[in-house]
Amino acid sequence: MCGIVGVLGTHEAAPILVEALKRLEYRGYDSAGIATVNGAGKLDRRRAVGKLVNLSDRLVHDPLAGKAGIGHTRWATHGAPNEKNAHPHRSGPVAVVHNGIIENFRELRNELAAEGHAPETDTDTETVAMLARHHLDSGMTPVQAARATLARLEGAFALAFLFEGEEDLMIVARKGSPLAIGHGDAEMYVGSDAIALAPFTDRITYLEEGDWAVITRAGAEIFDEADAPVSREMRRIRMDAARVDKAGYKHFMAKEIAEQPTVLADALTAYLAGDDINIPTESLDFTKIDRLTMVACGTAYYACLTAKYWFEKLARLPVEVDIASEFRYREPPILPGTVSLFVSQSGETADTLAALRYCRGKADRIVSVVNVETSSIARESDLALPIHAGVEIGVASTKAFTCQLNVLLLLAIKAAKVRGTMSADEVASLLDQLRGLPGHFNAALDRDQTIEKAAIRISEARDVLFLGRGMMYPLAYEGALKLKEISYIHAEAYASGELKHGPIALIDKTVPVIVMAPHDALFDKTVSNMQEVMARGGKVCLITDPAGAAEAGEDVWQMITMPAVDDRLAPLLYALPAQMLAYHAAVAKGTDVDQPRNLAKSVTVE
Ligand code: F6R
Repeated sequence: MCGIVGVLGTHEAAPILVEALKRLEYRGYDSAGIATVNGAGKLDRRRAVGKLVNLSDRLVHDPLAGKAGIGHTRWATHGAPNEKNAHPHRSGPVAVVHNGIIENFRELRNELAAEGHAPETDTDTETVAMLARHHLDSGMTPVQAARATLARLEGAFALAFLFEGEEDLMIVARKGSPLAIGHGDAEMYVGSDAIALAPFTDRITYLEEGDWAVITRAGAEIFDEADAPVSREMRRIRMDAARVDKAGYKHFMAKEIAEQPTVLADALTAYLAGDDINIPTESLDFTKIDRLTMVACGTAYYACLTAKYWFEKLARLPVEVDIASEFRYREPPILPGTVSLFVSQSGETADTLAALRYCRGKADRIVSVVNVETSSIARESDLALPIHAGVEIGVASTKAFTCQLNVLLLLAIKAAKVRGTMSADEVASLLDQLRGLPGHFNAALDRDQTIEKAAIRISEARDVLFLGRGMMYPLAYEGALKLKEISYIHAEAYASGELKHGPIALIDKTVPVIVMAPHDALFDKTVSNMQEVMARGGKVCLITDPAGAAEAGEDVWQMITMPAVDDRLAPLLYALPAQMLAYHAAVAKGTDVDQPRNLAKSVTVE
């Protein structure tokens, strides 16, 4: 989603803003812009459609002076992605950048129209600038005008205001979308996340929900929603956590796929001490729980669907899994004895956060599995379990998915242990297998050439089907999602057993069918489903293990052989070839792998 940056500095602001925006590119955007106030107090802006390089080019030909500035990468919500609608939005002496949606902007726009103020753009954000200008015109100071404007806004927003004639003032606010303030030496920064600010400072204060702040070079005065001055902790963030480079890989996605053996090993070290799983039972007592409700979006939702198999099989704990955007409006009854569990890489996904808030006061405990430990979802949970994936930049989630699966599996094993549904020996043996998984991840990465070869052929297809059975069924969804989001090839997933109930009508020689099937207790059934596909001219790409490859026969179109692992760990391992297939298909098609069209990394609007 949109990225916001700001600086009150001692050097020219434009290059700093562009550098900070570069670090937010991964969030997905379709236009960019900056505004500055120069030494004479003049407010001016430059904007450009498309990649940041277009804005940089514009600045070369038409530079922007000033040591105070705000910048923005826009992911269009209201109005087409053109220069007119790009941020910063300006109304007279006010410039504004915004992440989120102002839900009542039409009502505000009508009120302003009645006062004779006409909008120039199609955006909700311009209304914020217009309203602040209107308040300034009525004699308010910039701080009063910003405050009065914020009081009228409904919806989700992170906002930064800059004012003509005010070279040492920036006003920011957070409601629903995160915002970080960075503290430099006689310099202050703001950013949608700390990653944007990493080259400039490691001292960060996160605004809390409803906070707004008046920032000058001397520091930030922070107020809560009721305008009471508040103090928010300033923390030092680890600079390595904020590092954003491709480390020699062509794409962040390739780097993040390759990092999986290391991050999984790190996560296991963080969670395991011998056969003890380091999850505090005092905050989550599985013996007192009757059911688990898991809620998430996208890839994180597929991690939850996989975890349902683990919790139900290993711990005999009933689980419901829901898509956050459905769950939040369905008003599901939450019975006593329910733990609500939310999974989110960013920890800021608007629907997942709203679902969490719905469960507050109803569920026995609110637990989250997150990558960003400072995120809203983590902060609003009774227990937040970090996945230890490190910063994920590629829009298509890869290492976060396997690290989510890892924490969910550990949680299920912990539940099984305390509920007595797995013996100590069974737990020890499964954890042993899990400790060996980073090694198998490396072996999966070694299959890169075979996978690339298959992917190049798959990239020629218009439609692709993914099939899986049991624990591999949710992974079929994840494989299809990965392929469609970065290669733009239409892909669908089905439970293998569902094929003949309708989707088999789609099968012909132009539709590759990717079957993810380790040689487990259900393998024979999947082989039968594969035969049904091949009998109709369908081309099967089978991802299996050596025993599965031996049994599947010669007629398989493409064979990708994974190392043999415990059936219960297969969803983690088979995630890698699914990601690699999507990656290589996208590279073959020449798409923008790290920033696929129309997608945003952290979805902070509904
Ligand atoms: C797909 C992908 C998305 C996210 C979804 C939830 O590759 O990344 O489907 O999984 O938007 O995001 P988080 O996990 O940040 O809540």
